[in-house]
Amino acid sequence: MVRTQSEEWSKGQSPIVELRGVSKQYPGEKRLALAEIDLAIYPGEFLAILGPSGAGKSTLLHILGLLDRPSRGQVLCKGISANELREEARAELRSGFLGFVFQFHFLLPDLTVWENVLLPLLISDDKREAGRLPRAGAYNSTDQGGIGVASLRQQGSYRTKRDLRTSRVEKMLAAVELLDKSDSLPEELSGGEKQRVAVARALVTEPPLVLADEPTGNLDTANAKLIWNLLAKANTQQGTAIVAITHSEELAMGAQKTLRIVDGRIVDEKK
Ligand SMILES: Nc1ncnc2c1ncn2[C@@H]1O[C@H](COP(=O)(O)OP(=O)(O)OP(=O)(O)O)[C@@H](O)[C@H]1O
Ligand SMILES: [Mg+2]
Repeated sequence: MVRTQSEEWSKGQSPIVELRGVSKQYPGEKRLALAEIDLAIYPGEFLAILGPSGAGKSTLLHILGLLDRPSRGQVLCKGISANELREEARAELRSGFLGFVFQFHFLLPDLTVWENVLLPLLISDDKREAGRLPRAGAYNSTDQGGIGVASLRQQGSYRTKRDLRTSRVEKMLAAVELLDKSDSLPEELSGGEKQRVAVARALVTEPPLVLADEPTGNLDTANAKLIWNLLAKANTQQGTAIVAITHSEELAMGAQKTLRIVDGRIVDEKK
């Protein structure tokens, strides 16, 4: 059985990930993109992040998701300091607790919609089956050292556990109303459809934490609501902690907490 990770993570009351005094200065930039951020993300919470363009929202999300490192301060993941870890260990940690929706979706162009959503399930099963597939974090569209189209389609475990994975992928694509596009390639989709696939991909493993960078950014009001409700449902039904960036005050009101960032600083925090 494909077990989800959220149960084991949602029991403890300690934060899933915590930032202590985190600042970020990009190389060659005078200004701090983030300044002295203290923030803890607890199991089961739903946090919306608001703020003007360039305020540091994506930077904050990338650091929370161990995709980038701070210039100063600590990032603790279930109490483990992630700063000292090498990239490989960070990728391993990341694949154990996180689904990420990027601001610019990052679907793998050579994989169909179905395969893009299936991939995280194969990777998380791979962790349990000790190396029968390429390692977690190997998001790579070629066949050299990553999970490419040919290797994906040839893997033995693509067939084993297939029914359970099939029903998961099917459920997620139905939820984002894209089941009929299962065999399409990302380039054949509209911007909003790609974004919906990216959300399906982030939720399919039911991780304890989903970080979503403007998951509704390219969408019309109806689709934006659909995606936001999907995140809210994962939050209430699976206990998935959600941190989502949005420019919509209206959508943000649906979250339990809001955080407003201006010039790299948290200026307002509301429950
Ligand atoms: N790789 C980078 N190198 C240098 N500066 C960067 C880099 N990425 C972001 N920045 C700068 O850091 C600041 C914060 O950027 P960030 O992408 O976090 O903003 P944001 O709040 O997500 O904005 P938006 O709403 O437009 O997505 C901006 O001034 C931006 O120009
Ligand atoms: Mg951004």
